[in-house]
Amino acid sequence: MSDDQVTTGLGTSSRRALLTGAGAVGAAVVLAACGDDSGDEATAEGGGQPLAKTTDIPVGGGKIFADQKVVVTQPNPGQFKAFSAICTHQDCTVSRIEGGVIVCLCHDSRFSIADGSVKKPPAKRPLPAKEIKVTGDQISLA
Ligand code: FES
Repeated sequence: MSDDQVTTGLGTSSRRALLTGAGAVGAAVVLAACGDDSGDEATAEGGGQPLAKTTDIPVGGGKIFADQKVVVTQPNPGQFKAFSAICTHQDCTVSRIEGGVIVCLCHDSRFSIADGSVKKPPAKRPLPAKEIKVTGDQISLA
């Protein structure tokens, strides 16, 4: 046995394994791109948010804005209305607009494009009106 060998309770081969394994520690430093907490925009309820151009809304029909949960209709030329796109029956988002009614395909409720009233159950309550603002040819949430 040489002078630099130390007698420990681990024995010679166990000591070598411990020294070799120690070299791998700390070789990689990962700088994770921490999320920037300043990005909390878009939490407002959409006030003033542009929705569409008036020409996007067909007369006698409308358009569903699922992300904003709003339906915009044009029952008569130049008359724009807006309603919640959430069906008052069981909270599905309404599916389409056809034949002057807003249709929820979950259970086939239908609502008037003019006032949101129920045209066909099972929904019992009208779609609540939403406020919009028409400025020139731009429609936005009020
Ligand atoms: S959720 Fe719309 S008809 Fe039932």
